[in-house]
Amino acid sequence: MSRQPLVVGNWKMNGRRAEARRLSAALVPLVKGVATEVVVCPPFPYLIDVADQLQSSLVKVGAQNCSDHAPGAFTGEVAAEMLVDAGCHYVIVGHSERRTLYQEASSLVAGKAQAAIAAGLVPIVCFGETLEEREAGTTEKVLAEQVTAIQRQFEPALIEKLVFAYEPVWAIGTGVTASPEQVEVAHRFVRGLLAEAGETVRILYGGSVKPGNAAELFSLENVDGGLIGGASLDEQSFAAICQAMG
Ligand code: PGA
Repeated sequence: MSRQPLVVGNWKMNGRRAEARRLSAALVPLVKGVATEVVVCPPFPYLIDVADQLQSSLVKVGAQNCSDHAPGAFTGEVAAEMLVDAGCHYVIVGHSERRTLYQEASSLVAGKAQAAIAAGLVPIVCFGETLEEREAGTTEKVLAEQVTAIQRQFEPALIEKLVFAYEPVWAIGTGVTASPEQVEVAHRFVRGLLAEAGETVRILYGGSVKPGNAAELFSLENVDGGLIGGASLDEQSFAAICQAMG
């Protein structure tokens, strides 16, 4: 069984147009020759610029969110097919910042994943527990709720087309990384939930991944790459993380 490794940079709501162009251009020579697939996710207004700039490189572009609807009267939303049109291959859905700050429920996240697949995008479905949930001993229950909401919307054969990203909320942007053991336990648990979909489903880890801890996290049996926030805003750090994946 082989799973294509994947490292995704989530730029979040950072930078300006000139920085998006500079960062994406600077990244290309640094990740040339890495074995992993590399994706960057700029803010919406910069997607076209960055996609144009990366067109002849192996670095792909993703968005950070999409609507669960087809194009129509949904003010302020961005449809998955518009993202395809802008040059995207991937889209992050259900990031914990969306779930907690914008009250996105697992059913909505599943709808977004479905809209993404229908448009030809690969959704990167994020899931993860809060510190309170971990301390209360409910981590597996929370992960199961978030992952099975996705499974309810898709045939097992289609699940293989999705990418999953385990991001413990307490490790995002905090500098606290989950221990390799905590990560492997969570990934093994979720791979078990997804068993029907087959062994090729990719499960990324995200949460304070840095050049110094990437190699150890990526060497875990059930970790197929990373979703990188803060460290993806620096081309040297992000490239070092991609290189750690192989
Ligand atoms: P971080 O963010 O790497 O800054 O912790 C990860 C994420 O939110 O995807």
